[in-house]
Formats: sequence, C-alpha cells, structure tokens
Amino acid sequence: MNAVTELQTRALAAIEASENLQSLDDLRVRYLGKKGEITAQLKSLGSMEPEQRKAFGQAVNAARDALNQAIAARRSLLESQALENRLLSEKVDVSLPGRGEQRGGLHPVTMAMERAIGIFTKLGFDVATGPEVEDDHYNFEALNFPPHHPARAMHDTFYFGDGRLLRTHTSPVQIRVMEISKPPYRIIAPGKVFRSDSDQTHTPMFHQVEGLLVGEGVSMADLKGVLHTFVNAFFERSLAMRFRPSYFPFTEPSAEVDIGWEKGDGSEPGWLEILGCGMVHPNVLRGCDVDPEKYTGYAFGMGIERLAMLRYGVTDLRQFFENDLEFLRQFH
Ligand code: DAH
Repeated sequence: MNAVTELQTRALAAIEASENLQSLDDLRVRYLGKKGEITAQLKSLGSMEPEQRKAFGQAVNAARDALNQAIAARRSLLESQALENRLLSEKVDVSLPGRGEQRGGLHPVTMAMERAIGIFTKLGFDVATGPEVEDDHYNFEALNFPPHHPARAMHDTFYFGDGRLLRTHTSPVQIRVMEISKPPYRIIAPGKVFRSDSDQTHTPMFHQVEGLLVGEGVSMADLKGVLHTFVNAFFERSLAMRFRPSYFPFTEPSAEVDIGWEKGDGSEPGWLEILGCGMVHPNVLRGCDVDPEKYTGYAFGMGIERLAMLRYGVTDLRQFFENDLEFLRQFH
C-alpha cells in the first residue's frame, strides 16, 4: 500500500512538472500505458489473497483515477498555453505600413506590335499566325527561292538538321493562308522570327508583321496607299515616304520603303528604310493554286523592333532584350 501511495505522489509531482504535451504524454505511457507502473500494480492483484486484494485494488484504482485526472488537467493547461504562445508569436502588426504594389507596364516591343496590329485591323486586315518551327518548303521553296539561290544565304538560318528550321521571316504565313483557303486574302501575320545574327542592330530573335492582300485588280498603288496610311498612323505625323526598287524572290516588282526622318538634332531629314514589299510573284500564287491571270496582290513585311526604336528613340536594339527595369520603366 505504501508503494502505491509513493508511486501516486511521485507521478503527480512529475505530471505537475511536465513542461509540454510531449513529455506529459510520455508520463501517461510510463504510468498508465500497457507496460506502465500503475498497470503493473493492477496486474499483481491476481496473485494476492482475497482480503488484501480488495483494499489494494481500491487504492490502485484510486491512484489511476487521480493520475488520469491530473493528466487531463495538465493537458488542457499546456494546450491553452501553447495556443497563447502561437497567438503571440503569429500576431500581425496591422499598424505596419504595407509593402505597396508596383505597377507593371507593357514592353515597348509589345506596344509597337499591338500598335501595328491595331492599325491594320482597323484597315480591315485579319490576323493570321503560323508556326515558328518551319521547313524549307514554307520558309523558302514556296516563296520562290530556288534551291541554291543566294537570297537563302542572306537569311542566316538556324537549321535543326532534320529538315526543320526556325522561320527567318513571317512570309511563310502567306503560303499557309493561301494553301488552306480561297482568295481574296487580306491578312497580317505578326510574330517572332529568328536569324543567326547578333550586333547593335541585329538580335537572333526579333518580330515582324507580314501583310498579304490578294484580290481582283489589286495594284501597287493600293499597296503604297495602305503603307503610307500605316506609317502616318503609327508615328502620328505626316511623313514623306518613298518606294525604292529592290529584290525579293516572292515579289515582282519589289520595293523597299523609306520614310523621311528627322533625327531631332537639327540635322536635315534623311531617308530611313523601314520595310520590304512588292506585288506577289505569279510563281507564289500558282504554287498555292491561285490563278495569277485572275488575281493579283501585294505583300509587305516589317521589323517591329526597328519601328519601336524609331518611335521611342531607342538607339541600341539589344536594350529591348536585356530586361533592365530602369530602361523598361520609361515606357510605362
Ligand atoms: N520577308 C522579308 C524579310 O524578312 C520581308 C518582306 C519583303 C516581306 C517583301 C514581304 C515582302 O512580304 O513583300 O526580309
């Protein structure tokens, strides 16, 4: 009996001294678990004389109940302390000033691209797209580049080695549109193009907007009118514009378009080339099952970075791709 009293006293003291839920639970196992000290006392009842057994049994049961109660009381105290601590440590100081939000903005190339698309859309052009990974047929062959033509070499093409390549211009979209539908066509094709070339005025990836308009009685005068409308709208002023004879395999005749541009430093305006264009070559139309006797059309292609540089006064093309926030913020 003394042993039980001693055990109870020792256990109650330990419970009272336990500092966290884990050590409290360890105590519960130690005294009341299957192999616990109180449990062992209960098991010893079987080997006792009946008159001893009754009193001893009552004492052990009383000790067990006392420990259970003490553990429950201690647990609820420790739990509310733990909650209290958490509430204190996770407290949010609502009086601290906020971090604020930074407003983002569109990239100047995106702005120039959307600007060009917006103008042509208002002029009635639909937007068409094509894949950036092309093959020789769409990027060259169907555009009337003969197999060993020097114009291919001018394109600094990235080849995959399995017949595929990264498109060097958006002109292949002309072919894709004409192959799957019947004339008339009036589309623009904006997108990324790729050339193995890198310096102050060239990056391996840049953006173009292609245009294609094919119908009955379409002339070069129509082309000139649309392009002049476009450049005046894009730069929001009345600019001089001229066609200069040029060569592209997929147009005949072909021209490069210059605009009269003032540098803004007081010097005389000079001519600046901004795009290539021409009347769609009969071979290209024929290859797409469009009768060149019945239909004529024009095409044009322009580099968006170049237009963005002029519009926003950027002198190094590479700045568009360095993602320097100081630079980009100026366009917000
Ligand atoms: N694809 C040409 C290039 O990237 C640009 C071009 C010139 C597109 C004349 C045209 C065009 O549609 O008619 O250099």
